[in-house]
Amino acid sequence: MRILLLGKNGQLGWELQRALAPLGELVACDFDSPGELAADFARPESLPGLVARVQPDVIVNAAAHTAVDKAESEPELARTLNATAPAVLAAQAAARGALLVHYSTDYVFDGSGSAPRDETAATGPLGVYGRTKLEGEEAIRASGCRHLILRTSWVYAARGGNFARTMLRLAAERETLDVVDDQIGAPTGAELLADISAHALVRTRAEPALAGTYHCVAAGATSWHGYARYVVEAARAAGQPVKVAPDAIRPVPSSAFPLPARRPLNSRLATTRLQQAFGLVPPPWQQGMARVLAEWFAR
Ligand SMILES: NC(=O)c1ccc[n+]([C@@H]2O[C@H](COP(=O)([O-])OP(=O)(O)OC[C@H]3O[C@@H](n4cnc5c(N)ncnc54)[C@H](OP(=O)(O)O)[C@@H]3O)[C@@H](O)[C@H]2O)c1
Repeated sequence: MRILLLGKNGQLGWELQRALAPLGELVACDFDSPGELAADFARPESLPGLVARVQPDVIVNAAAHTAVDKAESEPELARTLNATAPAVLAAQAAARGALLVHYSTDYVFDGSGSAPRDETAATGPLGVYGRTKLEGEEAIRASGCRHLILRTSWVYAARGGNFARTMLRLAAERETLDVVDDQIGAPTGAELLADISAHALVRTRAEPALAGTYHCVAAGATSWHGYARYVVEAARAAGQPVKVAPDAIRPVPSSAFPLPARRPLNSRLATTRLQQAFGLVPPPWQQGMARVLAEWFAR
């Protein structure tokens, strides 16, 4: 099996390089890859040439415009990266009979209520990022290509900047921390997502009826405040530098941090469909986070 991975240097792309490597011949690209392997999503017209050169059986797309607030001021670029380029990849996959693995987000929903949403729930994005990611999903489904769309949330990785790393830095510098407590979701490790992707793509190649859209997040749920407390208390327990006292991590509403893009308050995603289709059981979110923290603290 030949796999074309796009967005190889993002949080997820980096972990996919590891998880996809044993499955066959892996050609991993990014927008600044040299020459013939450049995969610039800002120029979707360049993607068919890349697919023709690589001749993949599976295309895995981890590239995206993920800067949620920036997307509000550059909607055309967000649409090109999140919808137009995936649509081009889907057309290429359909023409070749290849499987397309793609990632989407809890931001396709409006975040109302408090129940976990399944794959049949009505969408209703609140901003440009969610809207363009939903357009990407819809284009893939409309293309007729065999696909796996994995909707996930609150992605973190050992590599690169993310919320947990920011909280550790601030906790070492400040005596108090205000953290949003009215947005609820599941922090999901890029490592877990990559491993599930590898398993699901192998199964779907063997059993095409498994293709479709799935919610793919770690188990459990927390607020950003609960997430910050978990990370900071783990740092304290590990003897890492922490200035903030446990009761000085204060819960605040989203309105305390006005940002260009509105966030969904309820990002809970139900993974029953994924569990039943692939026989997988996503572990509690704390499990993957504890591993990443242990790696950071060991440095
Ligand atoms: N991060 C989250 O919390 C989250 C939540 C839900 C769903 N998702 C989805 O999960 C997937 C992976 O996200 P992630 O967290 O791994 O994101 P990420 O770390 O931001 O990775 C995105 C990748 O796309 C690349 N990229 C940016 N502009 C590009 C262009 N013009 N052409 C080609 N590549 C370009 C980025 O390169 P540079 O880094 O060099 O710009 C980066 O390597 C995405 O589909 C995202 O929508 C993410």
